[in-house]
Amino acid sequence: MIKHLRSAADLDAATATLILDTAAEMAALAGREVKKLPTLRGRTVVNLFYEDSTRTRISFEAAAKRLSADVINFSAKGSSVSKGESLKDTALTLQAMGADAVVIRHAASGAPHRLASWVDGSVINAGDGTHEHPTQALLDAYTMRSRLGRLDGLRVAIVGDVLHSRVARSNVLLLTTLGAHVTLVGPPTLIPLNIADALSPAAKVSYDLDSVLPDMDVVMMLRVQTERMQDSYFPSAREYSRRYGLDLARMRRMPEHAIVMHPGPMNRGMEITPEVADSSRSTIVEQVANGVSARMAVLYLLLGGKA
Ligand code: NCD
Repeated sequence: MIKHLRSAADLDAATATLILDTAAEMAALAGREVKKLPTLRGRTVVNLFYEDSTRTRISFEAAAKRLSADVINFSAKGSSVSKGESLKDTALTLQAMGADAVVIRHAASGAPHRLASWVDGSVINAGDGTHEHPTQALLDAYTMRSRLGRLDGLRVAIVGDVLHSRVARSNVLLLTTLGAHVTLVGPPTLIPLNIADALSPAAKVSYDLDSVLPDMDVVMMLRVQTERMQDSYFPSAREYSRRYGLDLARMRRMPEHAIVMHPGPMNRGMEITPEVADSSRSTIVEQVANGVSARMAVLYLLLGGKA
């Protein structure tokens, strides 16, 4: 088993499949009255969040607690020390406390890689800048597999602000490793040149959402990340929705069995309409529940658990 989960590229097909299978076993626990396993008793998991988060932070906390680990939540927001320095100082503190795993979210791409060189414990990337978010990709893959029965050969469109999306990058890497065909869709301004080639030979790019919808098993909508935009990437929110928003009319172009995903938080009315987000084809709430199981599996396996 790998020690750190810094990138979805750390996972080969066998390891990723083991994590998804373990997540399925963890999910069975969620239905029980007592949702706890003693597996990580006496181990310490630190949640180190330098960036805002609702779902991911709560999800990692719930996952660690359900495995009976001691959980320390460290919210670094507001720190005025320069990034590199403060991260190293913090790392040394965590090291002194004997953290077995550090879950880190940071605005700087690559922060988890630096951290891994300073601490002895496992480092898990919970989102670094616009780079990667591997546990989101795992919970997304888990959701697809549980809804559609397989990943191999699945046709997945990832739609919207790919440029700023760590969710998109990790999903392309993981899904193509597991045999899915991924198409990145969005306005040319929000799809980095050569991104598909750089990430995977099995990924494609399209600028025309309407033309790809009829061929998809999964349509994953991305949040338009205005907080990361210094320039204007499209004429107006209305124009964006008109070309790249998923509404009921567009959803009807998808095959009957196809599902709609979104990592959250959503801009309702922008990349997705409320009717689509709340429809029976949307897996958005399921993704959150699956996130706990996927993160339990990651913590369990990285900290030495057996399949
Ligand atoms: C994503 C993130 O933070 O990268 N959210 C999440 O983890 N569920 C996506 C986003 O912020 O749009």
